[in-house]
Amino acid sequence: MDITIFGLGYVGCVGLGCLAEQGHNLTGVDIDKAKVDLINNEKATIVEKDIDELIKRNSKDKRITATTNSFEAVVNSEVAIICVGTPNDENGHLDMTYIYRVAKEIGEALKEKNEFYTVAIRSTVMPGTNKKVAEIIQKFSNKINGKDFAVVSNPEFMREGSAVADFFNPPYTILSSESEKGLGKMKMVYQSLNSEVIIAPIESAELIKFVNNSFHGLKVAFANEVGRICKSLGVNSINLMDLFTKDKILNISPYYFKPGFAYGGSCLPKDLKALNSIAHDKYINLPVLSSIEESNQAHIDYVLNLLISKNKKKIGFYGISFKAGTDDLRFSPALETVERLLGKGYDVKIYDKNVNLSRLMGKNKEYIYNKLPHINNLLMEDLEEFINSAEILVVVNKDNDIEELLSADLSNVQIIDLVRIIEENIIVTNYEGICW
Ligand SMILES: NC(=O)c1ccc[n+]([C@@H]2O[C@H](COP(=O)([O-])OP(=O)(O)OC[C@H]3O[C@@H](n4cnc5c(N)ncnc54)[C@H](O)[C@@H]3O)[C@@H](O)[C@H]2O)c1
Repeated sequence: MDITIFGLGYVGCVGLGCLAEQGHNLTGVDIDKAKVDLINNEKATIVEKDIDELIKRNSKDKRITATTNSFEAVVNSEVAIICVGTPNDENGHLDMTYIYRVAKEIGEALKEKNEFYTVAIRSTVMPGTNKKVAEIIQKFSNKINGKDFAVVSNPEFMREGSAVADFFNPPYTILSSESEKGLGKMKMVYQSLNSEVIIAPIESAELIKFVNNSFHGLKVAFANEVGRICKSLGVNSINLMDLFTKDKILNISPYYFKPGFAYGGSCLPKDLKALNSIAHDKYINLPVLSSIEESNQAHIDYVLNLLISKNKKKIGFYGISFKAGTDDLRFSPALETVERLLGKGYDVKIYDKNVNLSRLMGKNKEYIYNKLPHINNLLMEDLEEFINSAEILVVVNKDNDIEELLSADLSNVQIIDLVRIIEENIIVTNYEGICW
């Protein structure tokens, strides 16, 4: 396939060498003539393992060339991959100037081209860029998005230092577009890659790099904070983190990664507090670990404010323990929300099949009677009566009897879902998800 790559920096140069290695014909475009000259002299524009060899070999085989003339490059190709820079502007947003300039150049060239053209956005871009790029191309080409050309979001996941190896073995290949034809073209571009192709919503493809890289930053900061505590205690941090990463069920896994309500319970808050106290005693500053509880509280505040914003006084909590399948009420975020609503004069009722006051024992019993001495008056046992008593129904637990709730008549209550009772996004007037 004849492919043009815009931008001959780290991402573009690696794409140029690797896609040529897979048999495509590549033309690199850059406004920097020095980079264009390097490629045309069979040299890479960057320092990266194996890239010199790939550029040299494929240039000799006439599969790589470079130019500053974007018009000719577009006219003579069927796919353009945009890899130009998107630096931060003074507000921290990404500066899309180079992307929009390339979109304009592609539009001007497409005005003179009759074949269908596919434009992939490989750079990391602000949400909404796919749509904006399509509008710019449409404006300068007088062609129609989806009919004459397609714009495909296609984020890049390589790491500098191992970029060539990462290009050939990415975690996945994400493609997003309104155009099936454009998606088909990009699948052909990457057909020799050893990776799963995922067709994602455009908004997700535009946001995923930010989320990925923020998490990578969080991982590094977390490991370094654990390292500082370990050193102060004379514990081998490398050994400890090896143990940590060996747990592929709860630690390195999708578990705990679903947006929903705040954490609670008798263990997690207690042990997090204990670790922070150890660090405090040792005068170690832990901005990440010490802010987790603050973030959790902010999430409870968010739910409280959401409920208050509905201007309804009768609120029913379906589930009150800290998670499904237990009667443990200790540090339950739902219980804290109820307590704060009661303090503001709301009429709150609770339905939780697992919570039977006469069976509560020990610390759990002590906790609930200290926190909510009148919980007896709030608990209801009849589901239908409970539903009818509420104007807002907050679903806290997805317990075994959730089907019973879902099959009841819920048409007269506003549902606030904290646990994703319904898998698909549903847009109905009386339903609202906490993070979806
Ligand atoms: N570097 C990485 O490891 C990496 C990884 C994944 C994603 N990304 C993203 O990919 C994008 C590119 O990153 P990079 O590190 O390769 O940037 P870079 O700064 O190394 O290269 C960008 C190139 O684009 C060229 N350019 C600017 N305007 C142009 C135009 N109108 N026409 C043609 N070329 C033009 C510049 O001259 C430069 O050579 C960024 O959005 C970045 O966030 C980078």
